[in-house]
Amino acid sequence: MTQTHRDRIEQVRALLARHHQDHILRFADRISADQQRQLLSDIESLDLEALDALVEQYVRQEPHFALPDEILPPATYPIEPGSKLREKYRQARRRGERLIAEGKVAAFVVAGGVGTRLNFDGPKGCFPATPIKKKVLFQVFAETIRAAEQRWGGVIPWYVMTSRANHEATERAFAECDHFGLEPSNVMLFTQGMMPSFDRDGRILLAEKHRLAMSPDGHGGSLRALYRSGALADIKRRGVEFISYWQVDNPQVRLIDPLFIGLHAEDAAEMSSKAVIKCDPLEKVGNFTLVNDRVTVIEYSDLPEDLARKQDGRGRYVFELGSIAIHLISRSFVERINEHGFSLPWHRADKKVAYVDEHGEPVQPNKPNGVKLETFIFDALPLAARSIILTIDRVEEFAPIKNAEGVDSAESSRVLQIERFARWLESAGVRVPRKSDGAVDAVIEISPFFALDAGQLQEKKSLLPAAIQPGQQIVLE
Ligand code: UD1
Repeated sequence: MTQTHRDRIEQVRALLARHHQDHILRFADRISADQQRQLLSDIESLDLEALDALVEQYVRQEPHFALPDEILPPATYPIEPGSKLREKYRQARRRGERLIAEGKVAAFVVAGGVGTRLNFDGPKGCFPATPIKKKVLFQVFAETIRAAEQRWGGVIPWYVMTSRANHEATERAFAECDHFGLEPSNVMLFTQGMMPSFDRDGRILLAEKHRLAMSPDGHGGSLRALYRSGALADIKRRGVEFISYWQVDNPQVRLIDPLFIGLHAEDAAEMSSKAVIKCDPLEKVGNFTLVNDRVTVIEYSDLPEDLARKQDGRGRYVFELGSIAIHLISRSFVERINEHGFSLPWHRADKKVAYVDEHGEPVQPNKPNGVKLETFIFDALPLAARSIILTIDRVEEFAPIKNAEGVDSAESSRVLQIERFARWLESAGVRVPRKSDGAVDAVIEISPFFALDAGQLQEKKSLLPAAIQPGQQIVLE
């Protein structure tokens, strides 16, 4: 070890001691010079002052969610416009189409999560998602972007947020698949920030003798990562004004939606959301509410059951709108919040975190032993001066793949994808076989290049069969 290297470690040790974290240098004298460099680089990525406050507030004590005094239901644009809104929807759709054609819209997927629930080895975007062709999620999104460019004109740059855990594998996947047919210069991958994991006393855990246990800082980190990575500067250079945000787990997302873009622009909103009507008042999704006149998402675990079950005079649940993590975000909003001391509240999650103990022995805990901290994208909504919500039909836009089986699994997503394609075909007059319980008795896949929605499919009536046979597999591409 060189003198300067040793000095550096001793300096860092003194600094860490002031923050009660010097245990992370416990093995520093017994590891190679390369490993020391790695450890120092992990440590230098920490904002120790800020961590002290977070440890006090969120780790050493269980944070308590303070329910706001007044929680109201927010206004929403309905799925089908009534007579009063029909003209507004028409105008908004036209404006959205114009904005896409003028290159004012970018696509942005967050794909930094580690996806432990899916049991899939690799970036989640590489998970085979479609019913017949088994296209991976990234391919579905890339084809949708290309199809949208063909339909409305303009270039739609695509920003993909990864994390340290999957960045290289994601880059490899894009390179091996020729960027899924997109122009490489219009695709930008960048990583999000990381946060250390703590034991319950607030001490940072070591994943290895020379590595801190770190995990992605939550999808809320995407707003900062856009800024810090240079992606936002690229967005600005291109003259893009609106960022269409979605999660990598949802192959059904209408990721370029002229109506949503147009309504957001017409109403001069800063950050907007799509919502579904919850299928159960206690469904495990975030709830859209209005707090202090700002749209605010309250997680299902924080909304008291009596409020979740509260009904209005007509028997509708007052808080019926669930968040599906699809947002439209103005570029100027991301700039503004980053340039003015951006911060989002942190959320604590108690998780099993593998670590090395004080003897350097690796430990694989079988129950939660550590605390991870994350921020959530929807916590930025109350920072927006204006925010609209568009309610959408769940089958049309939400079929997430999160779990290995059961709810929100590859299988449930497949059923929903087929159901959506069946509905599109039925709307174009094609007879689709259904079983007695209503389930589609065929396997259907429609490529984004063939149609992006029911309307576009109807324009291709002449290419469609009159009927699909029971048990048939059919791909339209
Ligand atoms: C999330 C929402 C929930 C919403 C649901 C819709 C939260 C806390 N809840 O739940 O309200 O109804 O989606 O599908 O978010 N990600 C990153 N970096 C991170 C963490 C996550 O990029 O640091 C990405 C993941 O890759 C994934 C997405 O964010 O695409 C969702 O994250 P996840 O933690 O799985 O949220 P959910 O529990 O599915």
